[in-house]
Amino acid sequence: MTLEAVINLDLGGPRISRHLYGHFAEHLGRCVYGGFYVGEDSAIPNEGGIRLDVVDALRALGIPNLRWPGGCFADEYHWQDGIGPRDRRPVMVNTHWGGVEENNHFGTHEFMALCELLGAEPYISGNVGSGTVREMSEWVEYLTRGGDSPMARLRAANGREEPWRVRFWGLGNEAWGCGGNMTAEHYAHQARQYGTYCRDYGDNQLYKIAAGANGEDYAWTETLMKQLAHLGCRRITSTMYHALSLHHYTITGPSWDEKGSATDFGTGEFYATMVAAARIEELIAGHAAVMDCYDPGKSVGLVLDEWGTWFDVEPGTNPGFLYQQNTLRDALVASVHFDVFHRYADRLVMANIAQTVNVLQAMVLTDPDSDAMVLTPTYHVFAMNRGHQDATSLRVDPRTAPPSRPVGDTTLTTVSMSASRKDGRLLVSLSNLDAEAAADVAIDLRGGTAGQPEALILTAGAPQDHNTPQAPSAVAPRPYDGVSLTGGTLRVHLPAHAFVTVSAGLGK
Ligand code: AHR
Repeated sequence: MTLEAVINLDLGGPRISRHLYGHFAEHLGRCVYGGFYVGEDSAIPNEGGIRLDVVDALRALGIPNLRWPGGCFADEYHWQDGIGPRDRRPVMVNTHWGGVEENNHFGTHEFMALCELLGAEPYISGNVGSGTVREMSEWVEYLTRGGDSPMARLRAANGREEPWRVRFWGLGNEAWGCGGNMTAEHYAHQARQYGTYCRDYGDNQLYKIAAGANGEDYAWTETLMKQLAHLGCRRITSTMYHALSLHHYTITGPSWDEKGSATDFGTGEFYATMVAAARIEELIAGHAAVMDCYDPGKSVGLVLDEWGTWFDVEPGTNPGFLYQQNTLRDALVASVHFDVFHRYADRLVMANIAQTVNVLQAMVLTDPDSDAMVLTPTYHVFAMNRGHQDATSLRVDPRTAPPSRPVGDTTLTTVSMSASRKDGRLLVSLSNLDAEAAADVAIDLRGGTAGQPEALILTAGAPQDHNTPQAPSAVAPRPYDGVSLTGGTLRVHLPAHAFVTVSAGLGK
């Protein structure tokens, strides 16, 4: 049975912010040290200690932003430990992640240099859990204040005269958990207070993001929204916070200690993962609905600043380092998320995959024993979807029932799609989440004409396939000819467990 759908090419939709393709780097395992940063003395090509192969790979994705330094680490990070001569920076214990020593060699200046190399906007996650209002306020001053002031002078003494530009500012992380185990009410007051003292200097305007809910904790979102609505969103957001975050990981398995292997899984686990991934739609829709009650004009943003798969660590690796391989299954988790992001682009203003290098659902894996770097299947989804960044989201409306499979006590819709229009081109993304059966899709393109379609496919012999230094392109995009356009109908054949993008020039 062919799935029939309709795209109205001439209808407007929300703009898909490039920041929905954002990233996250925490001081966790080998994300920063060994991942982004190898130190100036490394034999691996670097600039100021920053790995250039990783930079090049991420630049090729058009990486729009990078969130740092955590995660849970953010709420025990004291930024003044990470400035000045490296050999004089104090050592701390990274209590969340393996109890390892953190020498603070990668600090504010190194992070801002990384963002400059990447061409990405920094997103700084400030410490609410164990920090102070003054500490956070001074970090903003250190980074963004020009002219003469105590923190501007300190910055200049550390080698940087000009202020940086920083827009995205997080007021803590997971305040309901590792960020202080606060109640929503308590955190709402904290966010209000911390937000007040994070100032705009010169023409640098902060976009402050309050630490939001875990999964389906809609009450948390409601508490933060109620507080804004109390005095009128527009006035309040300008001094307190402009957005709320949300975290959701794709986790399966019977318990936290048995989340399952990233590579060694059966078909049942594959489908369970797809069901867990697809749940992101219910969560975003739910939080957006709560926000709509208080802010129908959508002036407050929703920021999914941690998402991705979370499996058991690779055997023999430090359990606190969260290092996992990345298969075609992860790629399909990512493609499903992006379809949802595109649909909710009117409220969802940013999303950050956790985490960019060597941790959880990574883009890039570096080999601890050599200079090898591998691009993961997830990386290729970001690359194939790059054209959606800053495009106009187009609805893809099914006209017939989409294919589905029973999975446990639920039903998995096995074809996922989204589309956008930018610079006179149409981009359609299609995922077949069925591990065993192919699917056919026929999309009626209305309200315009499309030229010759060009397609790419990301698939492999099995969902477990992944890339290694020995086989770096086992899962990589390839040109695809299973696509045709006749009489305004775009036909796409989707092999089992495959992700396909189709692009075409648009006529008037
Ligand atoms: O990404 C790993 C951890 O997951 C982050 O530090 C934390 O915010 C979340 O619980």
